[in-house]
Amino acid sequence: MQRPDNLELTEYLDQQVKQIQQQVGSSRVLLALSGGVDSSVCAALLSRAIPGQLSCIFVDTGLMRLDEGDQVEAAFADKDLHFIRVDAEARFLSKLAGVIDPEQKRKIIGEEFVRVFEEESVKLGDIPYLAQGTIYPDIVESGAAGSANIKSHHNVGGLPEDLAFTGLVEPLSLLYKDEVRALGTMLNLPDYLVNRQPFPGPGLAVRCIGEVTKEKLDALRVADAIVREELDVLPKSPDQYFAVMTDTYSVGVRDGKRAYSPVVAVRAVATNDFMTAEYVQLPHEVLNRISRRITTEVPTVSRVVYDITSKPPGTVEWE
Ligand code: XMP
Repeated sequence: MQRPDNLELTEYLDQQVKQIQQQVGSSRVLLALSGGVDSSVCAALLSRAIPGQLSCIFVDTGLMRLDEGDQVEAAFADKDLHFIRVDAEARFLSKLAGVIDPEQKRKIIGEEFVRVFEEESVKLGDIPYLAQGTIYPDIVESGAAGSANIKSHHNVGGLPEDLAFTGLVEPLSLLYKDEVRALGTMLNLPDYLVNRQPFPGPGLAVRCIGEVTKEKLDALRVADAIVREELDVLPKSPDQYFAVMTDTYSVGVRDGKRAYSPVVAVRAVATNDFMTAEYVQLPHEVLNRISRRITTEVPTVSRVVYDITSKPPGTVEWE
């Protein structure tokens, strides 16, 4: 299907609702819901088009940001769909134990995701349709306009190829990201889901340098929430901003005693397309507030540093 020159969103929504109803009839549809913008808007649209026929599997990897799992679940509480939240934290952490290589971490997470998804989908019985939040740039970038490739989930593993589906439902496939966000708002999704910044599929594992442990993740979650809270309220927020738990330890003084604890790095970048990015020259009073808050509210952190590397040569993420 071609993207029309003057795409009108209300009309697009009506058309998609009708098209989905025609395509799937009274059959059930399955969706891997990551809580990202695309899969969330896809879920909201399907629950409008075919109330009660959509099952969403939301894998809580334990690698998400502070309260993220609860926020995603809350966003769909009023939608007419079957929301399955799988608490897989223990599984992911046990697979990641002792692993420090970034590529291996991504691979393990991708494979474990597929395994969890498969196990859960089997429990749901035969579901003929798979929905995906593929958007227009995904199709254009893969050089396959009009084709129905299964979108690589988490950019690491992809969904299991041997899951047999009668058909794919991809209702966002003609939309650009800003249109997907606008559609999410039309479908009453909360602002924190619709306007969230990009978050890598492997989650905090790629922001937790070295071995991923629950202790490091818990400290990182609080530090990261502080960074986001402080930068969310700036008149112009950077395009992406977060905390990184480095694997470096430094000496500090805590309660009059010498402490040897981890260093947290703060990252904030401005970018148009994430292919290149500039580090943002944040005001020093903001950096100061972030540093004071992190070292106070996360007592296991000894020191806070600011990453002043642009892309290239750095990447946005540390791993
Ligand atoms: P890098 O680190 O490559 O990141 O400069 C560019 C953008 O991509 C995001 N990113 C990912 N997104 N799965 C994703 O869906 C991933 O594995 C992944 N790794 C990086 C990153 O957050 C940034 O916005």
